[in-house]
Amino acid sequence: MTMDATRQRFLMCRPTYFAVDYAINPWMDPNAPVDTDLAIRQWERLRQVYRDLGHTVEEITPLPGLPDMVFAANGGTVIDGKAMAVQFRDPQRADEAPAYRAWFEGAGFELYDPKHVNEGEGDVLLAGDHLLAGTGFRTAHAAHAQLQEVFGYPVITMQLVDPRFYHLDTALTVLDERTVAYLPEAFSPGSQAVLRRLFPDAVHATMADAEVLGLNAVSDGRHVVLPAQATDLAAKLRDRGYQTIGVDLSELRKAGGGPKCCTLRLRQGKASK
Ligand code: ARG
Repeated sequence: MTMDATRQRFLMCRPTYFAVDYAINPWMDPNAPVDTDLAIRQWERLRQVYRDLGHTVEEITPLPGLPDMVFAANGGTVIDGKAMAVQFRDPQRADEAPAYRAWFEGAGFELYDPKHVNEGEGDVLLAGDHLLAGTGFRTAHAAHAQLQEVFGYPVITMQLVDPRFYHLDTALTVLDERTVAYLPEAFSPGSQAVLRRLFPDAVHATMADAEVLGLNAVSDGRHVVLPAQATDLAAKLRDRGYQTIGVDLSELRKAGGGPKCCTLRLRQGKASK
């Protein structure tokens, strides 16, 4: 295994207006208290971890009335300098889509508009030469064909079956070009078989790891940033030679989000990865 870290360019959105005002996944309870100031401090710590690892963090301006805008992974899919904008399933998040689209346009990416519900990197993960695309809760199956057409990577449909793991990035994380970690039970039997075939050496996470959103992790190929509470998963990753960095995003988890949800990978042309 090569354990070289690749420098990353990320897009993040400060949780200035973060709240849990509605429930569009089982983690969200609008009656439970949320500490927005603590959410901001936890998010700033995540941003600092990335900077300390040598990654570049770009920021999009948060907008009032869009409490989930902090989850930048849902703002698009950006590969090889092409940015595919998003279409949210839920009306509460609809206005985030044009804001992210405008950011991509301003940043000079080649823009593509979605024809179906498509929640960006929440459901679309590049793993080596394959695009793994989730469906079942948010991103429509029909969106997968468009992703393949736009990006030119073979798209592998992943059928999600547990509503707590409603986005692919809550059930699976890409560790490097060859390896992923995932929660088998979050996928249909057929998708589990595909995962075993594609990634025979994958790390299997436990339900306990997944229930603290441990799989909502960000890897640069060597360092894996993951929720601090996912201790078993962190130990397994260290056994494989990764360096793990635990972060506490307890407030954002009340909306069903972790480190990966807060982080959109901006991939330029192939050469500059
Ligand atoms: N409350 C947000 C939603 O339900 C959380 C999104 C988390 N993002 C992610 N990439 N999993 O849409």
